[in-house]
This record gives sequence, structure tokens and C-alpha cells, in this order.
Amino acid sequence: MDELFKKRRSVRRFQDRPVADEVLADLFETARYSPSWGNLQCWELVVVKDGEDKRKLAGMLSPKNPAGKCTESAPVLLAVCGSPQKSGYYKGVQVTRYQHWFLYDLGIISQTLCLKAWELGLGSVIIGSFDHKAAEELLGVPEGVELVALIALGYPDQDPPAPKRREVSEFVHFGRFPAR
Ligand SMILES: Cc1cc2nc3c(=O)[nH]c(=O)nc-3n(C[C@H](O)[C@H](O)[C@H](O)COP(=O)(O)O)c2cc1C
Repeated sequence: MDELFKKRRSVRRFQDRPVADEVLADLFETARYSPSWGNLQCWELVVVKDGEDKRKLAGMLSPKNPAGKCTESAPVLLAVCGSPQKSGYYKGVQVTRYQHWFLYDLGIISQTLCLKAWELGLGSVIIGSFDHKAAEELLGVPEGVELVALIALGYPDQDPPAPKRREVSEFVHFGRFPAR
């Protein structure tokens, strides 16, 4: 587990090798055990393999997004979608300070997907910066569901080093939050 957590990297260059349906099935079977608010499992995943659709989605990233090229070249894109008015709501009423717990749930399933992908020999990168509205229209995301992130998946063609991390002492506080 420790190695998986530390060695998983965002991969932005993939081999020209398809991902078998059985491998995807294995990935999704694990992902469905992700925790979620009230176990509501508000997530929906759209699996995009069509070359033209991937090209269109790649065009929805800003030209500066480092995941631009791999959005088109990845054998599989997952569109991670969810219903905003489930997590954090009870009988339609918001019950906590935060109304966006669905983002939390989608973050957790995204992490499960990326870690399991790594175990299966696949690289992945989460993509959060793109024209969400245009992507929703292309993929037919219905009213009441939002497309939050894309995950590009494929066999890695690079082994990037880990970007710098904050030291534990910078973000772990014992007893009290330190005065600022
Ligand atoms: C919510 C979220 C959104 C992200 N969006 C993008 C993105 O739009 N483009 C990109 O190239 N990487 C994106 N990333 C990947 C991060 O840049 C990457 O996780 C971070 O630099 C740490 O590198 P590592 O994943 O290799 O540990 C995103 C990651 C997260 C968690």
C-alpha cells in the first residue's frame, strides 16, 4: 500500500496499446467500494474510447494544460460525473455547511481509480481544468448531473519523478492549529 501511494504518478504520455475491457471491468469493480456520503454513491462514469470524441475533449482543455496531448492519445478517458444534490442533503435539504460533498465523493472515487489503475499497470492523470459545459454537452450528461473531472488512462510511456511535496511538519499540527 505504502509503495502504491508513493509511487503512483500522474502520467501524461501513454503507449499505443489498448486497455482490455476485462481490465476496465476489474478497475470499476474495485472503484465501487469507494466510501461516499451516506453511502449514496452519487458517481457516474462515462468511458470514452472513440478517437473523435477524445480529440474534441482535448480541444476543451486550455492550450497550456499539460494534459492536452494525452487527452487525445490516451486509449481511455473516464468522465467522472456526479449528482450535486445528493451528498450532504437529507430529503432535499442541505444538512451541513458544505453543499459540495459530491466533489468529495468524486475525489475519493477518482483516487481509488488512479491507485487501482496503477496496480493494474496503468498510468492515469486526473484532469480538472477544461470547458465543463462543452464536455457535458458532447457526452450527453443529463440535467441534475455534472461532469467534474476527466481521467486519462493507459499503459504508461513515461516514469515521471514525484513533484515536490510539503513536509509533514508543515501540514500536521498536534493539539492545536499553530498561530499564524
Ligand atoms: C483535482 C485535480 C485536478 C487536476 N487537474 C489537472 C489538469 O487539468 N491537468 C494536468 O495536467 N494535471 C492535473 N492534475 C494532476 C496534478 O497536477 C498532479 O496530481 C500533481 O501535480 C501531483 O503529481 P502526481 O499526481 O504525479 O503525484 C490534477 C489533479 C487533481 C487531484
